[in-house]
Amino acid sequence: MSQNLLFTNDVATALGNLVKDAAPATIHVIADENTARLVVPRLGLPASADLITIPAGDDAKNLDTLASIWGHLVDNGATRRSLTVNVGGGMVTDIGGMAAATFKRGMRFINLPTTLLGAVDAAVGGKTGINFRGLKNEIGVFAPADAVIVSTRFFVTLPMHELLSGYAEMIKHALLTDGREYRRLIGTDVSLTDAAGLLPMLRDSVMIKKRIVDEDPCEKGVRRALNLGHTVGHALESFSHECRSPLPHGYAVAYGLLAEMIISHIELGFPSSALHEMGAFLKKTYTASSLGIPVQPLPAISCDDYDRLIDLMSHDKKNATSNDINFTLLEAPGRPVIDRTATPATIVAALDILRDMTS
Ligand code: GLY
Repeated sequence: MSQNLLFTNDVATALGNLVKDAAPATIHVIADENTARLVVPRLGLPASADLITIPAGDDAKNLDTLASIWGHLVDNGATRRSLTVNVGGGMVTDIGGMAAATFKRGMRFINLPTTLLGAVDAAVGGKTGINFRGLKNEIGVFAPADAVIVSTRFFVTLPMHELLSGYAEMIKHALLTDGREYRRLIGTDVSLTDAAGLLPMLRDSVMIKKRIVDEDPCEKGVRRALNLGHTVGHALESFSHECRSPLPHGYAVAYGLLAEMIISHIELGFPSSALHEMGAFLKKTYTASSLGIPVQPLPAISCDDYDRLIDLMSHDKKNATSNDINFTLLEAPGRPVIDRTATPATIVAALDILRDMTS
């Protein structure tokens, strides 16, 4: 299931070579309204390539959009020997991958992520899917892209909060690897870093994910380590939507990482120095001004909200069914422990500390 990952800022050449080698019956490019306009014309694809434009945004990652892609493929002569090129953020690579993986029981596809979050996470590792009945990624299949072209040239125009969203997943990968990689990332000022120059760091980060996915492609064991930060992160994200001050996924993950480092400290003795470094980094970087909002990004949580947050954590489909909630924790940077539980009392203590550290 190992994926062909190409790291390059010469996207047109890389894509041209892949298409030539694949010699597909037909080529179908799946893009959202933005990437169809801004990115696809710069890819140098043959004029015969068929463009399938879908609405932008996670709300459109649904069965209707998927059916419209299937319909378009039927109407435009796609066969099992055809190829799709999915151009966009995680929404496009998730739904485009699922369309390709299911059409005629599976055709080839290439992912071309255009956001940092998409490049570091969604496009790599073979998870495809759609949202269903309000549940995120409820329906999907594991189907790795035949190739992923990872480029940072598209990030030059991304707003800072988009870059920081992806950067949180890079910090997660670093925490799963070792303390040196972790310190390298939290020691970098992303606001001063040339977006196009992020390629070497992004390569290291994607390769960490690739190593884990190669070991456990269908998430039966070690791949669950990639859930680090997401049990609390998803709860914060859902809660922020309920409060009508939505937090970008990566910001929620960044705070989720800190919360789960605190739980790791309580449960497994995770070093407090690394914890405090993360707290200081978040306060400096994941700020209201990086998000372009007037108030601090962490939703204004009070202790009255803890029950709701714990409720949201226990309903996350990846978590345990008992009263205790399932986490990936860390003994130290680079030493993850999957399938650990924490009691509601521990989570409450961690949320108290999280609020103190980030206020
Ligand atoms: N996003 C985590 C994974 O791909 O397993």
